[in-house]
Amino acid sequence: MSHRRTAVGLFGFVAILSGFFIWSVVPVTQGAEDGAAKTGLDKAFPLAAKCKRCHERAYEEWEASPLSRSIHSPAFRAMLNEYLTFSGGRDKALCFRCHAPHINEFPEHTETFVTQAQSGDPAIDGVGCAQCHLIQHVDRTKQPPVPKYVTGKTLYGPYKDFVSNLAHQSMDLDLFRKTDLCLNCHLAVPMATNLGNKNDLLGSWATSASVKSGKQCQTCHMPGQVGESANGEKKRTIANHSFPGRLGKLRQDAAKLDVVTQVKGAQTTVTVTLRNLVPHNLPTTHPGWASVVLDLTIKGKNLKTVFHDQRVYGRTYADANGEPTVFDFKAVKVVSDTVLKPEETRLETFTFPTPTDTRSFDVEVSLNYAPVTGPPDFLQRIEAESTKGTQDPVFQPIPIVSTAENIPLR
Ligand code: HEC
Ligand code: HEC
Ligand code: HEC
Ligand code: HEC
Ligand code: HEC
Repeated sequence: MSHRRTAVGLFGFVAILSGFFIWSVVPVTQGAEDGAAKTGLDKAFPLAAKCKRCHERAYEEWEASPLSRSIHSPAFRAMLNEYLTFSGGRDKALCFRCHAPHINEFPEHTETFVTQAQSGDPAIDGVGCAQCHLIQHVDRTKQPPVPKYVTGKTLYGPYKDFVSNLAHQSMDLDLFRKTDLCLNCHLAVPMATNLGNKNDLLGSWATSASVKSGKQCQTCHMPGQVGESANGEKKRTIANHSFPGRLGKLRQDAAKLDVVTQVKGAQTTVTVTLRNLVPHNLPTTHPGWASVVLDLTIKGKNLKTVFHDQRVYGRTYADANGEPTVFDFKAVKVVSDTVLKPEETRLETFTFPTPTDTRSFDVEVSLNYAPVTGPPDFLQRIEAESTKGTQDPVFQPIPIVSTAENIPLR
């Protein structure tokens, strides 16, 4: 390996002198040598692994985030397969527009993206560092908004007073502190073109109190902290790159539950006031199976469940044959929409027979992200694609918030 290290040093030195990216001439990873480097993809969009050397903290946070697995997840591969079958070879790039957006700059390499994703262990990044830090502008007049990539030697970021370095030039853009940067991937589902104004992921986020008070997506999803932006540099305000959402403790801020139980003789009524605290839809409505479930369990004598009920918040789509579908690329119609709207308060009432032969009963209420649903062959495909089989996280509910209370009976 030592000869390679020498080569890096030499090439790197030459690259700096001639003003090129270090990574533009030196393939470092196995993957780059196998495929991506040949295509020129790596040159324009250096792999995240190349930023790790100097931006270890940002890299490690990103690596733990869903963004680092945007073309790796078994659910993505299984749904990509459904899409490719459905579309019959038309617009093979569609899913990658957001899941590996450099395809927009390299449409001629669409097959590479498809086969790399299908391999389950792609040598290309999905939403890597460069896929955000080379965006120079986002055109909000388009629906969905369109990013403009400038693949040169400059990386865009939030700092005016950046420290200069030998690997790349830096430039500050206001865009990096603004929601606009996120919208080109998070605003709309482009495949669901027939859905009109139902083709939205976030809902009426722009008029939410939180956004009106000046919050951007980054305020909550890339919270500021103090640390080193690049290894060994001075401490300053940096942005968390683990993109908390379904994962991480941010989700405790997603919703609030207030539960009131009224025993009226033989009937008991539980009223749940469910407040969506986020300035966008809960859940966001892609992929089509995304849903959040409010679950009520009543436990009587010996903690035995005597009553159970639930409410589901999500969208149900129908395909061209009028059949329900979890695949939003097939959707031509929204059949039902119970998604919690930005900052909405929803009141749910459950009535059931008051438990007998017990001195008290438990009222347990929880809000969870539901596991994946869909046709059996699709679920089997996810299982087969996953090294964890039925234990893949996509088959598990994710708890958001919950309450439990013991109600005495006289
Ligand atoms: C190039 C497209 C793209 C851009 C730009 C982008 N995202 Fe994403 N984002 C994705 C994709 C794709 C996923 C899903 C990854 C996966 O799980 O497969 C995702 C996932 C997320 C998640 C995790 C969601 C969950 O279910 O837990 C959060 C949070 C998030 N993005 C926030 C942001 C924020 C904030 C910005 C702007 C600073 C942003 N994203 C910009 C494409 C993008
Ligand atoms: C407009 C941008 C966009 C397009 C196009 C898009 N996605 Fe996504 N996708 C996202 C974002 C953003 C998320 C994260 C959503 C969230 O967590 O709220 C996501 C999440 C997902 C997830 C759940 C996370 C995971 O990786 O398991 C799957 C599966 C998925 N997309 C599959 C697809 C497939 C297949 C296609 C093509 C048919 C596609 N997407 C097209 C933006 C997009
Ligand atoms: C989804 C888009 C996105 C991805 C992917 C992303 N970043 Fe960032 N990054 C941002 C945004 C937005 C900011 C500015 C946030 C702020 O200041 O509020 C930022 C800030 C930074 C900064 C300056 C502040 C800090 O936190 O140190 C560095 C350095 C940086 N990113 C490096 C990286 C590296 C390295 C990777 C890959 C491992 C990466 N970014 C991946 C969007 C992204
Ligand atoms: C040789 C070390 C080195 C490498 C490799 C490197 N960076 Fe940097 N980068 C730095 C230093 C040093 C800074 C300045 C940090 C500061 O000002 O606190 C910086 C700053 C940044 C900023 C902030 C720019 C601004 O004006 O806000 C971003 C974004 C960034 N780097 C992204 C990346 C990405 C993406 C990669 C990989 C493609 C990468 N860097 C590779 C050393 C490096
Ligand atoms: C006031 C804070 C706040 C702001 C601003 C905000 N979010 Fe969220 N977001 C949350 C919380 C809290 C959650 C819930 C975490 C969870 O349980 O997934 C969430 C969840 C998400 C998820 C994953 C949940 C899902 O249903 O799939 C995505 C994706 C997301 N937000 C994107 C965005 C984008 C894009 C913006 C900017 C337009 C934004 N958020 C603005 C607080 C915020």
